[in-house]
Amino acid sequence: MDTQVLYPVALPELEALSARAATVIGRLRDRVYAPGTEKTLDLRFNVRSAAEMVGRSEKLIRDAEADGRLPEPAKDDETGRRTGYSLAQVNRMREVFGTLPIRAETDVPAVVAVQNFKGGVGKSTVVTHLAQFFALKGYRVCVIDCDSQASSTAIFGLNPDVDVDEDEDTLYPFFRHGGPPTLHYALRATYWPGIALIPANLGLYDAEYEFAARMAREQTFVLDKLRSGIETIADQFDIVLLDPPPALGMLSLSVLRAANALIVPAPPNNIDFASTAHFLKMMSATLNEISEVGGARSFSFVKVLATKMNDNKSAHVAIKRMMDAVFARDMMEAVLKDSAEIDNATANLRTVYELTGPATRSETHKRCRAYLDSVGREVETLIRKTWPSHHADLRKEGIL
Ligand SMILES: Nc1ncnc2c1ncn2[C@@H]1O[C@H](COP(=O)(O)OP(=O)(O)OP(=O)(O)O)[C@@H](O)[C@H]1O
Ligand SMILES: [Mg+2]
Repeated sequence: MDTQVLYPVALPELEALSARAATVIGRLRDRVYAPGTEKTLDLRFNVRSAAEMVGRSEKLIRDAEADGRLPEPAKDDETGRRTGYSLAQVNRMREVFGTLPIRAETDVPAVVAVQNFKGGVGKSTVVTHLAQFFALKGYRVCVIDCDSQASSTAIFGLNPDVDVDEDEDTLYPFFRHGGPPTLHYALRATYWPGIALIPANLGLYDAEYEFAARMAREQTFVLDKLRSGIETIADQFDIVLLDPPPALGMLSLSVLRAANALIVPAPPNNIDFASTAHFLKMMSATLNEISEVGGARSFSFVKVLATKMNDNKSAHVAIKRMMDAVFARDMMEAVLKDSAEIDNATANLRTVYELTGPATRSETHKRCRAYLDSVGREVETLIRKTWPSHHADLRKEGIL
């Protein structure tokens, strides 16, 4: 038996603990965000991959380069070899060939919340990887970080404590009394072509109090404020992804009211499954109550996504089977399996999609890409089904 005496932890000790943790995080951030190390996207695609991404043959690309519709491919100054195409260049090809997958103006932009009140289930991982999956396809994406922990903000290369001003750059000013009328002020481009970000930092937590105060003071319904804000910018995007905080608060309710589609990440273990079931129950009860004041809202799809699944754990397999039975038509077919590649990439504030080489082993990297791609493809199809202008193509692809 452990003979150590347990003693109560007092506030000063907690403060010391948090200071130590902050130092470690500070060091990691200093390394990642050191001056001159601004995050860049170093992905390059050879003509074969580019042709596949664009949906036209290599020959058509070469022809367009030869007749000036596309710029000459870049070459390395020293070796004279082709350096490959950047994502921006691939998107330029898509423009020239008319193969950008974007929605028609009459299609409603997808506003997808990746939500579960449980912490650590993979919400931010799913948001950042989906955003980049869609950007690689050529969609116009906006990521809105609604969580004061700012995980998505950090992954997109911003140091929440340094690069983000809570009084100017986050959602917070928009929620304040007399704040800006639209969300344009908060949108920023990222180093990913096609992805804009509304960042967060710790100051966003004050929005919870701001909401409560406004409800009391103005007697107004504030839970649709985020939705009306998103409406002011959504015309620029195909897909808006919302990364909410892991709690039932004003912000996470606002996210549920703002979204028109919902993905619920849930690891297949007992505790997370129970809390996901609880989340769904609480969500529907709360949304019902709110709809009496604010009017009903509906989702074009609600899907449960098994995350962090480990096939070697019999408990995971058993609970996944149970989830499939309980949620039958609501489970996504794709599963985001547990992968060291994701863990390692995140530890360096990167995603798997922006790695130029494997973070672990090449096999692990490939497998992980396959899980991520299958999740991305399935969500892409769900979204395209909501866009009438895509229906003819979906029929041709045998999906509708
Ligand atoms: N499929 C996966 N394989 C391995 N690690 C994963 C996977 N998905 C997420 N993780 C890791 O789990 C941790 C929590 O993930 P993430 O931050 O995405 O969860 P979250 O739901 O956004 O958490 P929070 O509730 O705190 O916002 C991270 O360290 C992430 O790297
Ligand atoms: Mg998160």
